[in-house]
Amino acid sequence: MKTNQRNKILVIHGPNLHLLGKRQPEVYGNFSLKELNQGLAEKARKKGVDLKVFQSNSEGEIVEKITKFKYDFLIINPAAYTHTSVAIRDALLGVNKPTIEVHISNIYRREEFRKKSLVSDVVLGLISGLGKESYLLALDAAITFLKSRNFKP
Ligand code: DQA
Repeated sequence: MKTNQRNKILVIHGPNLHLLGKRQPEVYGNFSLKELNQGLAEKARKKGVDLKVFQSNSEGEIVEKITKFKYDFLIINPAAYTHTSVAIRDALLGVNKPTIEVHISNIYRREEFRKKSLVSDVVLGLISGLGKESYLLALDAAITFLKSRNFKP
């Protein structure tokens, strides 16, 4: 059975994720943002959900998207803003939508400053360290969540 066609899932990629494929491949892998988004779009199409993907290097634009765009479920990789942004944390608290925080790398196996996330304690769940799979698993979980609650937009 497919999730209600009208369920909308928003994916937000934070700063520097447009550089995927070129940026520190030993940490973030060899796949590009385009390839990652294609994988997400393919899964969304197969499962019958409406997926919108957005990348920004600007904290303000991310806050605008979180608080003004219409969606039922959010998957967000706040990237470097994970560790600094009270504004993104407050936006998530403000809209109170089911949200999964994702990271390509395992932020708890890296530098000390990356071990603190300002968003982890205000989201439904966190997937970190599984590369591209972090996003694909988050999308599966979002779809299961919406389906299990028979979520109506
Ligand atoms: C990241 C981890 C962050 O610490 C870093 O600033 C990023 C990417 C990840 O996906 O592993 O830009 O969020």
